[in-house]
Amino acid sequence: MEKDKWTSNQTYIALGNLLNACAELKIDACPMEGFEREKYNDILALKKQGLNTSVVATIGYRSDNDTSQHTPKVRKSIKSLFA
Ligand SMILES: Cc1cc2nc3c(=O)[nH]c(=O)nc-3n(C[C@H](O)[C@H](O)[C@H](O)COP(=O)(O)O)c2cc1C
Repeated sequence: MEKDKWTSNQTYIALGNLLNACAELKIDACPMEGFEREKYNDILALKKQGLNTSVVATIGYRSDNDTSQHTPKVRKSIKSLFA
């Protein structure tokens, strides 16, 4: 349905604000799309509230025991991205 698609896309405005706020507050965040929407809807009983999952974002403070936090990020250089 066109309206469902439009409302789902609007959640990305909130997601952008969430990610910016987390970055500002030094809280880690991980947005995700590759999940089973219907299972989220069922587990959280969203349908009976007229709601539908569109995107997931986990947030939290990283553990001191998380060794991967010190691993360098794998990122393409600005030159290779925008050349
Ligand atoms: C809207 C959105 C959806 C995303 N969905 C996925 C996803 O389904 N699977 C995934 O591996 N990363 C996804 N990402 C990227 C992850 O949030 C994360 O950036 C990525 O796993 C790399 O981690 P890093 O940024 O710490 O290097 C998504 C990012 C955004 C903005």
